Amino acid sequence: MLAWYDVHRRTLPWRAGPSGPHPDPYAVWLSEVMLQQTTVAAVKPYYARFLERWPTVEAMAAADDADVMAAWAGLGYYARARNLIACARAVAADHDGRFPDTEEALRSLPGLGAYTAAAVAAIAFGQRAVVVDANVERVVARLFAVERPLPAARPELRRLTDTITPDARAGDFAQAMMDLGSTICTPRAPACALCPLSADCAARAACAQEDYPRKVAK
Ligand code: ADE
Repeated sequence: MLAWYDVHRRTLPWRAGPSGPHPDPYAVWLSEVMLQQTTVAAVKPYYARFLERWPTVEAMAAADDADVMAAWAGLGYYARARNLIACARAVAADHDGRFPDTEEALRSLPGLGAYTAAAVAAIAFGQRAVVVDANVERVVARLFAVERPLPAARPELRRLTDTITPDARAGDFAQAMMDLGSTICTPRAPACALCPLSADCAARAACAQEDYPRKVAK
């Protein structure tokens, strides 16, 4: 996955260059909050505007709520914007304006759920965190042909993701899995011929890629 990522990684504004330093935790956190229920294409202009207007977590902490809410307009799920402000203020007030660098400490910030805490720990701090979003769930469900349907399969998918997460470059690994899920291991007609995991993929071996992740019959 890492070798594949080095060649095929998507160029995205919140990613540092290949082999560059870890990106700014504030920028990673902002991007991950925006990307939670919104597509990459829709997020890009908002992300750029937010970083220009509030370039640091301290700046965001000092922002007027109404300005942030207005700038968020169009992204939807406005609880995210309220949490954004609350989290920036908590980092400024309780952490000296610096994001804490462990998954556990990140998890205690307002609005940081399991996914965001793991993503920031891995991507911004290089911690070995297990990062599972819907794209990763699909890749892993296929790779291991997980028979339990979603959502009950979540703990198992998390355990399996843990078994394949490397100690080094966990942030790159997580983003490689996301890229694979969004560009190759797609819900319909996955491009298995291009997939670095295809030889190991249990769903592919059974010619049943689209049958995973299993879902409860409607
Ligand atoms: N979706 C959510 N976070 C992402 C990231 N860091 N890269 C690509 N897609 C994402």
